[in-house]
Amino acid sequence: MAKVNRKSKPKRKYWLSILVVALSVIIAPTIIQSSKPKNLLGEITVYLTPNCGCCKLYTKYLENRGFKVKIIEMEDLSQLKNEIGIPPTLQSCHTSFINGYFIEGHVPVEAIIKLLNEKQNIAGIVLPGMPSGSPGMPGGKDEPFKIYAIKNGSLEIFMII
Ligand code: CU
Ligand code: CU
Repeated sequence: MAKVNRKSKPKRKYWLSILVVALSVIIAPTIIQSSKPKNLLGEITVYLTPNCGCCKLYTKYLENRGFKVKIIEMEDLSQLKNEIGIPPTLQSCHTSFINGYFIEGHVPVEAIIKLLNEKQNIAGIVLPGMPSGSPGMPGGKDEPFKIYAIKNGSLEIFMII
């Protein structure tokens, strides 16, 4: 019995080391993935006014969906919005920028991802007003969100969510 035990010990060590290698191969990528920073979808800069509650909720929404958010507070955003060519009737509260595009208002991330993927030749996208139930806004969704693309001052439907 003692002989068998002594013989089986190195064998057990051998299998143990194989098990350790196998486990580390399986577990290591999982650990690397989970320790990745949250900014998987890129960095987005959000211009907002200091006392805007829905704007702050929108930045939290972006963070939760995988964006790294840089917040810039300004007392008045109308000049910025006019300069980048957002018609006054379509202006919302906050204005965001990513990869050279502007994103006006409470735009859902699905539209931002479409914008980043398709790289269309447009200036930016807009969800006019602050629709009930849109990201960062309270209430239920009353109607589909119509997101417009702006290119050379003209409007076209970009996405309906
Ligand atoms: Cu708002
Ligand atoms: Cu806002």
